[in-house]
Amino acid sequence: MSAQEAAEFVNDGDIIGFSGFTPAGCPKEVPTAIAHKAERLHAEGKPFQIGMYTGASTGDSLDGMLARAHAIKFRTPYQSNKDLRAALNTHDAHYFDMHLSMLAQELRYGFLPKPKFAIVEACDLTDDSEIIPTVGVGILPTICRLADHIIVEINEALPKQLRGLHDIYEPADPPVRREIPVYHVSDRIGKDCVKVDPKKIIAVVHTNRPIEVGAFAPTDETTERIGANVALFLEQEMKAGRIPSTFLPIQSGVGNIANAVLGALGENPHIPAFEMYTEVVQDAVIGLMKEGHIKFASGCSLTISQNALNQVLADLDFFKQRLVLRPEEISNNPEVARRLGLITINTALEADIYGNINSTHVLGTKMMNGIGGSGDFARNAYISIFTTPSTAKGGLISSIVPMVSHLDHSEHSVKVLITEQGIADLRGKSPIQRAETIIENCVAPEYKPMLRDYLAHTKVSHTQHNLSLAFRMHEQFAKTGSMKETSFDI
Ligand code: COA
Repeated sequence: MSAQEAAEFVNDGDIIGFSGFTPAGCPKEVPTAIAHKAERLHAEGKPFQIGMYTGASTGDSLDGMLARAHAIKFRTPYQSNKDLRAALNTHDAHYFDMHLSMLAQELRYGFLPKPKFAIVEACDLTDDSEIIPTVGVGILPTICRLADHIIVEINEALPKQLRGLHDIYEPADPPVRREIPVYHVSDRIGKDCVKVDPKKIIAVVHTNRPIEVGAFAPTDETTERIGANVALFLEQEMKAGRIPSTFLPIQSGVGNIANAVLGALGENPHIPAFEMYTEVVQDAVIGLMKEGHIKFASGCSLTISQNALNQVLADLDFFKQRLVLRPEEISNNPEVARRLGLITINTALEADIYGNINSTHVLGTKMMNGIGGSGDFARNAYISIFTTPSTAKGGLISSIVPMVSHLDHSEHSVKVLITEQGIADLRGKSPIQRAETIIENCVAPEYKPMLRDYLAHTKVSHTQHNLSLAFRMHEQFAKTGSMKETSFDI
């Protein structure tokens, strides 16, 4: 049926689970039709809002369209759409942030209300009611099992031959859960499709929509220096024998820094070809795989530009032997992360002199995106690295401050902090030693005297703070639009 007809099933107050992870694998046509339905009903003075579960961020035709139509009652988890961000920062939509690995199980445990509908993108739906996902999985298997009704959006822009790329596995719940039997990055433990109850499928909608993944910004001097510092740190760890000579699997976060870091790892002649056990497979992975620098990548989505996707589709047999896409419960699983010994590399918005990390809240209050998988990985890593440019907003903000204005990852989950200025290895250091290392190695030169001065205004203690001055740099930015003139004089 048409997307408009499918959207007619959905009513005010319904809760929907959507497939996909990032724009990859998300339905497009039916969410757009639901947004148009919301606009129509609102124009007639009628209420229409839905509750939404997604894998992570989505494309503009999902989050963007529904946010602009004021059609979102609540939403979890990660998002990165500018209109949705505006909606949740003004309470137009209620948002609660979650570790991505936990969403599917919390739906099963009944901690969150069950979705009435699962709306999923597929490259194929067989006569046996097997759904073959496209390039992102997210929470697809769980929502298909829990929802009363399933709407399948078959995107003909993606070939049926993607079958075989996925490894679909849902763990049992306590008290009968067993270990998740992924012992190597490339282990396959599940099925190549999601078999659903055919009685639940109430609509099949055919589309032909391009993926909605934007191209990456070209690397700049800052991201290249961060990437080179990460590569240098890992090279030194390997030479010191703390990383095996065969190397360990890499998890790398999202965005331009992550892309630059992967590029730098690929270029470093001392780092052997490696594997990835990660959440999002980005553009850089495709090039590095073709060059032989990456042997295998396990992820939840192929969040790659159209250009990179064309390369994958042109050589699908090659990539199917080297890629697997799993539900986020498995791609981000803490048990597997700890077992495989992941080197995790995630980006902070803000860090403090003791190594606490804010990944989500701009200046402590405004939600940027969400915690995503960073906590799933950082807490369970072999070595957990956080990267950030040392300054933001053209130098008006120091990304390193006395105390983070919001806490996502505590000092206990952070082994190494890296900026374009250098590397702070925090292992085995007391709080005051961490502060000295971070200030000397990672802070921008113009902010070093300020942060040393902050410490001079604290009394000797285990973790030194002056609680009335800890947010002076943030207050100064709020007053003047720059942290540069912050004074700690009382
Ligand atoms: N204080 C205030 N604002 C800051 C800031 C700081 N310390 N640091 C950055 N910003 C602002 C930037 O100026 C930019 O603002 P703009 O949108 O108005 O231009 C915005 O925050 C984003 O910064 P940017 O450097 O462009 O971010 P990014 O694309 O490298 O993403 C995160 C950084 C932290 C937002 C992103 O990595 C993220 O969402 N992380 C959390 C989830 C995660 O780690 N997932 C991976 C796990 S697998």
